[in-house]
Amino acid sequence: MLFTCALLAQLCSFATDSSRIKLIPEPVMLKELQGNFNLNKQVNLVIRGEDKQLKGTAQWFTNQLNAMTGIDIKAGDLGAPNNITLELLTTHNKSIGEEGYTLSVTTSGIHLQANTPAGIFYGMQTLLQMVPLRDTVKSTATRFNIPCAEITDYPRFGWRGLMLDVSRHFFTKEEVKRYIDEMVNYKYNTFHWHLTDDNGWRIEIKSLPELTQKGAWRVERVGRWGTFAPPQPGEAVPYGGFYTQEDIKEVIQYAQERYVTILPEIDVPGHSLSMIVAYPNLSCTQLQYMVGPGDSLRKKNDNVLCIGNDSIFTVLDKVFTEVAALFPNKYIHIGGDEAYKGFWEKCPKCKRRMQTEHLKDVHELQSWFVKRMEKMLLSKNKKLIGWDEILEGGLAPEATVMSWRGMQGGITAARMNHHVVMTPWDFVYLDLYQGEAAAEPPTYGMCRLSDSYNYDPVPDNVDEKYILGGQGNLWTESVNTFRHVQYMTWPRSLALAEVYWSPKSKRNWDDFINRLEAQFPRLDAAGVKYARSAYNAIATPARDKKGELKVSLTTEIKGLDIYYTFDNSDPDPFYPRYNGQPLTFPKGAAQITVVTYRNGKQVGEQFAIKKEELEKRLLQGRHIY
Ligand code: ACM
Ligand code: ZN
Repeated sequence: MLFTCALLAQLCSFATDSSRIKLIPEPVMLKELQGNFNLNKQVNLVIRGEDKQLKGTAQWFTNQLNAMTGIDIKAGDLGAPNNITLELLTTHNKSIGEEGYTLSVTTSGIHLQANTPAGIFYGMQTLLQMVPLRDTVKSTATRFNIPCAEITDYPRFGWRGLMLDVSRHFFTKEEVKRYIDEMVNYKYNTFHWHLTDDNGWRIEIKSLPELTQKGAWRVERVGRWGTFAPPQPGEAVPYGGFYTQEDIKEVIQYAQERYVTILPEIDVPGHSLSMIVAYPNLSCTQLQYMVGPGDSLRKKNDNVLCIGNDSIFTVLDKVFTEVAALFPNKYIHIGGDEAYKGFWEKCPKCKRRMQTEHLKDVHELQSWFVKRMEKMLLSKNKKLIGWDEILEGGLAPEATVMSWRGMQGGITAARMNHHVVMTPWDFVYLDLYQGEAAAEPPTYGMCRLSDSYNYDPVPDNVDEKYILGGQGNLWTESVNTFRHVQYMTWPRSLALAEVYWSPKSKRNWDDFINRLEAQFPRLDAAGVKYARSAYNAIATPARDKKGELKVSLTTEIKGLDIYYTFDNSDPDPFYPRYNGQPLTFPKGAAQITVVTYRNGKQVGEQFAIKKEELEKRLLQGRHIY
């Protein structure tokens, strides 16, 4: 029996509890071996292969190791014992590609090989996850024992991204750098910077200073986004900020040093209120607005560029000339999502454009606009990427589609032989609830950790070669602070890191949770906030044959005990334990209160749900539970 388990564990190479190595994302091949490499003051770092960027990367690694262990490893001689050797291969190892690596840890040394400095960098992320946390091992001599192993690893997708919306709420360049630091620990390589939207223009455009003078500032509101009072005429606009071009260059370089490409997004022709505030003549109504604070009037706001007005292209050319010059990425994201078309239908200039260009409806008008934008970008040697609405009315010839309203846009585009980046909202939108709403800060929708983990970016019957990869997207309407950015990002982006890096055959939820729980103390040590919502109970309403409300309790993470009460008191292990059978509300009970425990220790948050709320969720059809 013992033999079978050990054999199985080795065959599957899933991290069993006896595994000493718990990595995220799971590598392609991991063979755990007996023994340890002892990291101590005598260990040297050796670089084989001349490369300027690799030198910087080695310094980055030395700093990380020092922060974790207090040990300051020095540059050493080739061939000396007790080395960590970083080797840039002179003969290309085809099997690991541009971002892969091999890592060998033996009792006498560590050897990290890759074809590129990026590969070395990803190998370093793996190695750092194998270094024990300072406080977990008490004996000083063996404190930093790194378990012996052989690892071969490379990513499934070349595009592994996270998007941060800095328009709805502004995050400083230091916070953006910190976000990049946190991303790279899990081998993300693309930072999608949502730089403009109705609620703030965040990038300096030198030829159009009004964009940031006027468009970067709004009235201050705190509370529930979407319910705020609209800005009052003459009200002060203290909230906001923007990045100067020097700031942007600094962040680009910072990202490059960490092998991260930045995808800039300028969201047009919709979501353009902050641009229209600066240049009111660019909208169909030409009215003067104020930057939106998250008020309830967004749909009535004229936040869409007037496609019939030629001056939008003069302005956009100036914007995209500067954006193209700043960002080395071959892609620029032009948005294209959720453009309200009601003003175009009534606008004489837009109607004239439709006539002269023989466009049968406003969808074709939008498509005409996107095609013109593509020509503009191509003239600047850039490729266009946009949200999946750019399919409507006809896709621009070389456009890449970012599929967000589910997978369908991506499927359609891939079948037309266009490249696709998958970001279906119900699996990767990091602004959604990550567990029972009663236990979370208010937002909308639901995307649990397991939803993110179990999704696959390549739909059936789609050629994988068109799927460049995917992202997690964090919209920040309800995210006011960087701490909350972290809370919403982690751990769902740990799940997504594995979806985008690891082979699909390695996907295993229970194993992931086992490894995730080894990451939590690392995030704690690094001061990164994360959600523990996956430990919370899930209350699912149903109706029995007699029409009576029933509630079932489950958990995403297996093996937890759920305790509950109907009498408004706080449940604990002395209360009834949920036994898997749907529960009926006792007469008079207005709510159920639940909590989860593991081995007698509370692990999930206690929360209560009213009976009427469960009834409402049943009626709504689309549930938040
Ligand atoms: C989007 O979520 N509007 C792309
Ligand atoms: Zn118009």
